[in-house]
Amino acid sequence: MSETRDALRSTLLEALKAAGAIMRRGFGKARIEYKGRANLVTQIDKACEAKILSLILKRFPDHDYLAEERAPRRRGAEHLWIIDPLDGTTNFAHGYPASCVSIGLARGGEPVLGGIFDPFREELFLAEAGRGATLNGKRIRVTSTPSLDRSLVLTGFAYDRLQRSRFYVEYYRRFMISSHDVRRSGSAALDLAWVAAGRADGYWEFNLQPWDVAAGMLLIREAGGTVSDFSGRDWGGDPSSWGRQTLAANSKVHRGMLRVFDEPGPWRMPDAHKRR
Ligand code: IPD
Ligand code: CA
Ligand code: CA
Repeated sequence: MSETRDALRSTLLEALKAAGAIMRRGFGKARIEYKGRANLVTQIDKACEAKILSLILKRFPDHDYLAEERAPRRRGAEHLWIIDPLDGTTNFAHGYPASCVSIGLARGGEPVLGGIFDPFREELFLAEAGRGATLNGKRIRVTSTPSLDRSLVLTGFAYDRLQRSRFYVEYYRRFMISSHDVRRSGSAALDLAWVAAGRADGYWEFNLQPWDVAAGMLLIREAGGTVSDFSGRDWGGDPSSWGRQTLAANSKVHRGMLRVFDEPGPWRMPDAHKRR
């Protein structure tokens, strides 16, 4: 049993490091392809994904996966790897060094392992269900900031931002006036890892995908924080729905952020959290 756990963890670490090395080598040399007007992918995203999957499937050929740049494999395996081979592609493609690789593992729909590697800062964030969260081997915790009005919060805008710019900016405005300030890094996985590490107090985003959040949600939980949708509910056991509404914070700031979503506002519109 623990042999399997060690093998899963060492495979995760190897995949994170291998993809990180590809990112470092490819930085500044990215060739942009367009999935949409402002939705980019590069040859480096694809190379990272191919490397990660080949490492995982060599060891665990029967496992399922959900990876951003290819069709999912869902054959009913107990284990599901959820992979963002390069999170922060727009940053990466522009030579702005704020990106990472993010890999989560779910077993029977429950997150059991999550790792995020930032190759630019050489920071490895790791979480194992029930065993805590670490950064480069040292235990991390969310902040103890007592309230939203004393917090620094993070956010991002998903790829439907071109159609919903006013909608997203309205929530940015609400959090701007109720916190110390708001930051937007361009990498959802790093945002979650940084909240887990206590570098910011909370994070929200609409319409993320499972690969953006699978590792980060476990990091937040194992670092003592709370992850929910905008009504305060758990995400539940179907990984393909994870991330649609992402609210992650220390529990006190989380309560304050929930109150912002409680105010009358556009997110309650019927299509507000549909993915496009
Ligand atoms: C994106 C980043 C960004 C977030 C977007 C994501 P990608 O992922 O995490 O911060 O705002 O919603 O789609 O495309 O760079 O892997
Ligand atoms: Ca992503
Ligand atoms: Ca990506």
